[in-house]
Amino acid sequence: MDISWPATLLLALLGLFIYRTWDTLYRKRKLPPGPTPLPLLGNVLHMKRGEMVKSLLQFGDKYGPVYTVYFGPNPVVVLCGYQAVKEALIDQADDFGSRGRQPTTDGFVQGFGVAFSNGERWKQLRRFSLMTLRNFGMGKKSIEERIREEAQFLVAELRSYKGKSLDPTTVLVQAVSNVISSIVFGSRFEYNNKDLQVLLSLFAATFKDMSSAWGQLLEMLPTVMNYIPGPHQRINKHLNNLLEFVTQRVERNQKTLDPDSPRDFIDCFLIKMQQEKQNPTSDFNMKNLLMTVINLFFAGTETVSTTLRHGFLILLRYPEIEEKLHEEIDRVIGQNRSPNIEDRSKMPYTDAVIHEIQRFSDIVPMNLPHSATNDTTFRGYKIPKGTDVYPLLCSVLRDPTQFATPNKFNPNHFLDEDGRFKKSEAFMPFSTGKRICLGEGLARMELFLFLTTILQNFKLSSQTRFTESDIEPRMKGIANFPMPYQLSFVPY
Ligand code: HEM
Repeated sequence: MDISWPATLLLALLGLFIYRTWDTLYRKRKLPPGPTPLPLLGNVLHMKRGEMVKSLLQFGDKYGPVYTVYFGPNPVVVLCGYQAVKEALIDQADDFGSRGRQPTTDGFVQGFGVAFSNGERWKQLRRFSLMTLRNFGMGKKSIEERIREEAQFLVAELRSYKGKSLDPTTVLVQAVSNVISSIVFGSRFEYNNKDLQVLLSLFAATFKDMSSAWGQLLEMLPTVMNYIPGPHQRINKHLNNLLEFVTQRVERNQKTLDPDSPRDFIDCFLIKMQQEKQNPTSDFNMKNLLMTVINLFFAGTETVSTTLRHGFLILLRYPEIEEKLHEEIDRVIGQNRSPNIEDRSKMPYTDAVIHEIQRFSDIVPMNLPHSATNDTTFRGYKIPKGTDVYPLLCSVLRDPTQFATPNKFNPNHFLDEDGRFKKSEAFMPFSTGKRICLGEGLARMELFLFLTTILQNFKLSSQTRFTESDIEPRMKGIANFPMPYQLSFVPY
């Protein structure tokens, strides 16, 4: 094809114009420094395909702990290391407490539900959710009982394998999601229940597509990727199926609701909706109920089960650590009763190992996106209201100024010289500040009770000798996973 010289000149001038406008706009901002973005694409071409977290950490090495990267035309301020994340999320908690954009799910979520809302809506939903989960025993006995009961079902299931090896992914997800089911829906599912299998396959499919290289591109360039075919286009389909499932459960509750005796989280929310019926601006409406339920399932299932799965892989690598756990369990709990949450304070070694598993497995490496609530000054930079902010939890959990051997699994990070449990301010797998994980108490209880109950009943064994590199988390989009592996639960 022949392109005439006036057309070529016009194209060149247009290109120059776009570049100059972009260059001026970009340089005028007083945002933190970072790699120079290209017009329209930003720094997308600077990111390794499918390795967003790695690329962001490498930029941190080059530009310092506070830098700006552009996803398309949108700036994102990235915070690396304990000090920067603490200054933003704790010292300037009000400025950095808002939820940022998450293009992979924003179209579906539309600002509803506790995890992705902001402002007054978020405050109302967060207060209600925390309070309701507490009334149902969050941090108290009744939720503890649900977890202990589920842990026994899990032991029975593992026993049925008679020491044969298995990939623990499914059974752990089933057990952990049953804890949320019992809180939200009022009952658990049998492990072979069809509804449970449908529910879990929808979660797994959503996570897989969100974490794919395509999902990551969608995160960075939504305006372009929304029009390009690929696995990322399935995300909304999975989410809509999930919504349908939850809607049916809510309708079931509505039909049998007794306002004087709520059975579960859904009942409590429906009662609150009735109480606020006269208030046209109330945030207690069906959309917020459905999205909050989906948030609780999403946030509470993969996270805990992946941490446990990674924990078992680490213990297979270090049998001497597993041995010490057995010793502490034998000494404090014995074999005649099941573990309870009061045991935790008497088991510093187990507590330290669980903390170290969470630090090392680093399952939400990028955190969820935050954004600047106001026009904000941070370390002398000007961050306009609404700018996305990524406080990288992976960089805090492996901060060499905070942990003696940041890249090595080492329970001594959480033990003092006398073997007592030692806190670390940089232990932030649940993030910190106003948006800190709403399920932290529940998750910590689950990790302790599931792990100790399993080790009270089984020894872990594998044909494979795992190396240090085998136990490193595999970074994948928004979540980290352990490598796939098999193990046997040998009756103890
Ligand atoms: C090992 C387990 C878990 C880890 C590592 C984890 C981690 C996180 C992280 C990093 C965030 C983002 C915090 C921020 O934006 O600064 C978060 C938020 C959240 N988590 Fe968890 N989580 C876990 C388990 C749970 C469980 C069991 C629940 C269920 C109740 C849950 C519910 C939530 C909710 C609702 C939010 C959104 C909070 C908000 O936006 O106000 N999480 N979690």
